[in-house]
Amino acid sequence: MRITVLGAAAGGGFPQWNCNCRNCAGLRAGTLRAQPRTQSSIFVRPDGSADGVLFNASPDVLEQIRSRPALQPARQLRDSAIAAVLLMDGQIDHATGLFMLRERSTPLPLWCTDPVAEDLTQGNPILRVLSHYCGVDRQRIPLDGQSFEVPGVPGLRFRALPLASKAAPYSPHRNHPVPGDNIGVSITDCASGRSLFYAPGLGAIDPPTFDAMANADAVMVDGTFWTDDEMPRLGVGSKLAREIGHLPQSGPGGMIEWLGKLPTRTRRLLIHINNTNPILDEDSPERATLARERIDVCEDGMEFQL
Ligand code: MLT
Ligand code: MN
Ligand code: ZN
Repeated sequence: MRITVLGAAAGGGFPQWNCNCRNCAGLRAGTLRAQPRTQSSIFVRPDGSADGVLFNASPDVLEQIRSRPALQPARQLRDSAIAAVLLMDGQIDHATGLFMLRERSTPLPLWCTDPVAEDLTQGNPILRVLSHYCGVDRQRIPLDGQSFEVPGVPGLRFRALPLASKAAPYSPHRNHPVPGDNIGVSITDCASGRSLFYAPGLGAIDPPTFDAMANADAVMVDGTFWTDDEMPRLGVGSKLAREIGHLPQSGPGGMIEWLGKLPTRTRRLLIHINNTNPILDEDSPERATLARERIDVCEDGMEFQL
C-alpha cells in the first residue's frame, strides 16, 4: 500500500492564522527552518490502484487535493480517487472537510464510529447539513476488534481500536469519554502483510494500544505537543496537552519513551503537530532528540510504501 501524508499539522495548521508564536512568526519571516503544514489527514491506497481511503476530512482538503494530482485521476467528467472517508474522531480539524466534498452525485461513503456519527448529527450537525447536498452513505466502524474492508479499496484490511483521547468540545460526552470518541486504526496490506497503525489523537497508551503499535511495521501517532504545559507556558492557551487528549512527546511516560519500547524494525512517525511544537523547527534541540531516537516528523506530501 501507498501512504500519502496530505496534512501533518494539528488543528489550526502551521502557521496558524492568528498566531505569532516563535514558530508561526519565524516561518512567516523566513527566519525559521521549517515547512508549513495543513491540518492532519492521510490518503492510503493499495498498490496498483488509484482509489484509496481518505483518513479524516481536513478543513484544508481542497488545497490538499489540488497539490496531490494522484487524488484526481480524471477518468471521467466527475472523478475522485477518494473511495471513502474514514474518521478518527469528530473534531473540527478532522470533519469540516466533509462540507468541501459535497458536490457529488452520490452519497459520500463515510466510515465512523457511533459516537462520532452522533456528534456529527447533534453537537456539530455536519451530516444533517450534508443531507441537503450529496448526503453520506454512513458505515459503522466496529469497536469490537473485528476487521473490515472498504468497498472500492480491495486488498486492504482495517481494524479500529478505541483510544483514550478526547471528543470535540461540542460533544455531549466531551467530559465523559465513551469508547469510539477517538480511534486508532491498523491498516494491513493483505498482499505484503505489512501494516500501519494510525492515531493522530492519542492521549494515553494502554496495553491494547501498545500491542497494536508493536504489531505494526510503521506507527504514525499523535505529535501534537512536546510538553504537557506547552500552550500555557507560551501564553497561547490555558489547557494542558493531556487535558485535551494528547500525550506529549517529552518527559516520563511521554511518546518518545513509548516509541523507544517498540521493536527496532518499526518505523516511527509523528503527525498532527501543533504550531507551537518546537519539533517543527528543524534546527531545534528537540528535533535533534527525535532524530537520535529515529522518530520522523511528518510533512505534507510525504509518501511511503508498506
Ligand atoms: C485537537 O485535536 O485537540 C484539535 O485539533 C483541536 C481543534 O481542532 O481545535
Ligand atoms: Mn486535532
Ligand atoms: Zn503559533
